[in-house]
Amino acid sequence: MPPTTRARTLRIQVRRHQRDAGRDAMSDKIYEVSRDWAERAYVDAAQYRAMYEASAADPEAFWAEHGKRIDWFTPYTKVKNTTFGPGDVSIKWFEDGTTNVAYNCVDRHLETRGDQVAIIWEGDDPSESKRITYRELHAHVSRWANVLRNRNVQKGDRVTIYLPMIPEAAYAMLACARLGAIHSIVFGGFSPDALAGRIEDCGSRFVITADEGLRGGRKVPLKANVDAALKRLAADAVDHVVVVERTGGKVEMDPGRDVYYHAAAEMVTDECPCEEMNAEDPLFILYTSGSTGKPKGVLHTTGGYLVYAAMTHQYVFDYKDGEVYWCTADVGWVTGHSYIVYGPLANGATTLMFEGVPTYPSISRFWDVVDKHDVNIFYTAPTAIRSLMGAGEEPVTKTSRKSLRLLGSVGEPINPEAWEWYHRVVGEGRCPIVDTWWQTETGGILITPLPGAIAQKPGSATLPFFGVKPEIVDAEGKVLEGACEGNLCIADSWPGQMRTVYGDHERFVQTYFSTYPGKYFTGDGCRRDADGYYWITGRVDDVINVSGHRMGTAEVESALVAHPKVSEAAVVGYPHDIKGQGIYAYVTLMSGIEPSDELRAELVKHVRQEIGPIATPDKIQFAPGLPKTRSGKIMRRILRKIAEDEFGALGDTSTLADPAVVDDLIEHRQNKR
Ligand code: WT7
Repeated sequence: MPPTTRARTLRIQVRRHQRDAGRDAMSDKIYEVSRDWAERAYVDAAQYRAMYEASAADPEAFWAEHGKRIDWFTPYTKVKNTTFGPGDVSIKWFEDGTTNVAYNCVDRHLETRGDQVAIIWEGDDPSESKRITYRELHAHVSRWANVLRNRNVQKGDRVTIYLPMIPEAAYAMLACARLGAIHSIVFGGFSPDALAGRIEDCGSRFVITADEGLRGGRKVPLKANVDAALKRLAADAVDHVVVVERTGGKVEMDPGRDVYYHAAAEMVTDECPCEEMNAEDPLFILYTSGSTGKPKGVLHTTGGYLVYAAMTHQYVFDYKDGEVYWCTADVGWVTGHSYIVYGPLANGATTLMFEGVPTYPSISRFWDVVDKHDVNIFYTAPTAIRSLMGAGEEPVTKTSRKSLRLLGSVGEPINPEAWEWYHRVVGEGRCPIVDTWWQTETGGILITPLPGAIAQKPGSATLPFFGVKPEIVDAEGKVLEGACEGNLCIADSWPGQMRTVYGDHERFVQTYFSTYPGKYFTGDGCRRDADGYYWITGRVDDVINVSGHRMGTAEVESALVAHPKVSEAAVVGYPHDIKGQGIYAYVTLMSGIEPSDELRAELVKHVRQEIGPIATPDKIQFAPGLPKTRSGKIMRRILRKIAEDEFGALGDTSTLADPAVVDDLIEHRQNKR
């Protein structure tokens, strides 16, 4: 699409997307930084300004200095070599340095903190937990690396990891990093189809999984899902499947392909050297949804990624030696990569990894775990806060939480009511909240308060991290100044940025750098207030955010139309009290097929099978016709309004091929469900 057409489409998309993040609901409260925080944090307000200005004025010098926070085998002499186009897009940081991520996250800590706990693992069942020291982590990671190496995993090979939240997930990631193999983690909630697509896209010949996962007391058939996924691929697509025994449940093992980790581990030692990697060698691929097509393999590399993940982890969470830090994400998402594993371990932190869910065995579980392990820093998603809010204060207040000193939020805009509750009830008014805005693509946090430096406004991600240059642009790409609202771009590169879409650099350029040539376009709408604070208003493209999980409406649509009774489908997001956004599907049936509640249930089941439970449609409206332009393009703007019950604000419908379709949709919406 030529840039002008894109800009035109985006004009109508500069809009308020999320009900509570919108101007009307915007909180004007300010929570100032306390004197205590300003004194004890790494960075106070004056230091933030000075460091930010230095990073903006001379990124080269700034990052030359901060790149030294990790250990290099060969020090870099070049720091920043990046261009956002127009034309070619190329991003390189520390490009002549060599290092190894596992070395930085494990080996380099052995001398100073070998006996310190690296990972606290809390099982789904509260009676199960483990503490793994850095020395033990070193032995586990090395043994894992040897098991993989014995199966011929080499530098540059892709390894798919489909594991639950057990320490082995971290071991396997770091073992890949140790060997220079590229991991691709697939969230355990994805279906066999989704898993197969991701194995195929990156040509991964190795899969690491577990017999079963355990979440909220329920078993997840991971190995059976892998078996089903591999049946969809060529018979020889995957050479080896390594299976961790988690529940001991019975699974099928293909003797020529599958091996239990514990059996393979007996054959190898726990010594394995670290491969010397170039700063720009790939570290991992992580698939994420976009507005069109199948999920993209976001590629992150070695040096810049680790520097950025570690630095943001230290400053944003003000992490101090000896503290217990807990991020409740799953390692299947980027938050788990950067802020459970790589950032914290590079900093020699104690990171907590939780296998379960916030509501099992009781709705107090998060706070019970905080008390059990004396957690100091707690980082979770707004959807979790909103769902816990519903049960009232007592399940929180009956726990102590005295160890907590900082709270974090990530994944979607946090509505001021949830922010206030998190602050007042969970944090008892004493813990600052860092509302961290970032994306799979950004590798680490880009906009966030620093807790000792930046006053918080509930619902605002506040100000950019060092080296980050946000710009708000209008539909034509004009950069807006001062207080304004528009689309959020980033004007220049930062070390943690993704480098390409795996196997499709052109798609990378098209997706992120063609809408506003020369800038990275985030896909988010954003407002900047008179204090220069940023308020993310949600996606402006056809991506929706369901409970902090990113979903392309196109993916759900293609799952629906794959059903034999469906002729056409259009999917939009709508405001949902707990999930942030829910999935609303308009479905046109094949002629002769009658709508029914049974069919509705069948379609929901079908989507869950095609993508996974996270894509479960919340509402299905059978629609005899969809609103289309004369050229056949579905007008989602109208469908969104109908799903939001805003029938009065449909805007211009004059370009519709058949305006009567809209009346029909509204009638169905009002009469049925
Ligand atoms: C999208 C990225 C970053 C890790 C988790 C999600 C939304 C993320 C915030 C926030 C408002 C946020 C954006 C972004 N988002 N954090 N603090 N405030 N919106 O990563 O799956 O790549 O999703 O999540 O819309 O574009 P992701």
